[in-house]
Amino acid sequence: MDLRLDGKVALITGASRGIGAAMAAEFVAAGAQVMISSRKEPDLLSTAAAIEARFRDSTDARKVGVFAANAGDPDAAAACVAATLEQFGRLDILVNNAATNPYMGKMIEIDLPRLDKTYEVNLRGAFVWAQQAWQQYMAEHGGNIINISSIGGLSVETSIGHYNVTKAALLHLTRSLAKELAPGVRVNALCPGLVKTDMARALWESGEEAISQMIPLHRLGEPEDIAQAALFLASDASSWVTGTCIVVDGGMLL
Ligand SMILES: NC(=O)c1ccc[n+]([C@@H]2O[C@H](COP(=O)([O-])OP(=O)(O)OC[C@H]3O[C@@H](n4cnc5c(N)ncnc54)[C@H](OP(=O)(O)O)[C@@H]3O)[C@@H](O)[C@H]2O)c1
Repeated sequence: MDLRLDGKVALITGASRGIGAAMAAEFVAAGAQVMISSRKEPDLLSTAAAIEARFRDSTDARKVGVFAANAGDPDAAAACVAATLEQFGRLDILVNNAATNPYMGKMIEIDLPRLDKTYEVNLRGAFVWAQQAWQQYMAEHGGNIINISSIGGLSVETSIGHYNVTKAALLHLTRSLAKELAPGVRVNALCPGLVKTDMARALWESGEEAISQMIPLHRLGEPEDIAQAALFLASDASSWVTGTCIVVDGGMLL
């Protein structure tokens, strides 16, 4: 399949590194203009420069937009969507990728500030960014929303229990919004398995070889594995797909 995004504009949260940065690079390579967002502007600027450098010698130079925003802050979401529209003139694809996991341990023992933070960024955040995209552009022009959930939203792992509750709820938010916003806006989710990024480092770094042997495809995920599935959902190749999730986990859930 030749998956192209020519003429499309995408906004990706949590895109200064890891899966978000890989999606940004994949989307730019497919022809999209991309706005990347996360909390730290210096990291965003260096990620944007690295993506732009790949196209420096081509006739088709790309400019990657950056906007620093905390995904849990509704005002920042509104401002970032507005900045995307101001810089690029449209917003076809929103990827709710930013997430946080400030607590590991028995879920029954979590303190309320960290519980609230997990919900604020991972669940309320995804809703608010979708609401802003809808209100400022997609209600009138249509669009495509991709929520990055997790296989933790489909299974039980109590050491990251609250994070997984937000990821399960994100899947239901995906289904509910897909029905409500159709036919103009498609809403889908991706459920990655264990991917080699900073966020999951505590889960894989000390035992990569042993964990790989427990995964049917015998390796951990790379950010690009998720980015390629995101490109499918972002492109017209998935034009009859809405309200569902794609599991990308090397068979780990099995
Ligand atoms: N890695 C895995 O194994 C795995 C598995 C399943 C699902 N996922 C999901 O995949 C997505 C991406 O995770 P990742 O593994 O790529 O993580 P990562 O490498 O740690 O990257 C996280 C990104 O999100 C940004 N970020 C963190 N908190 C933020 C906030 N409050 N507001 C805005 N941006 C924020 C970070 O930049 P700043 O710190 O500068 O803000 C960074 O750009 C997440 O939704 C995660 O839950 C990951």
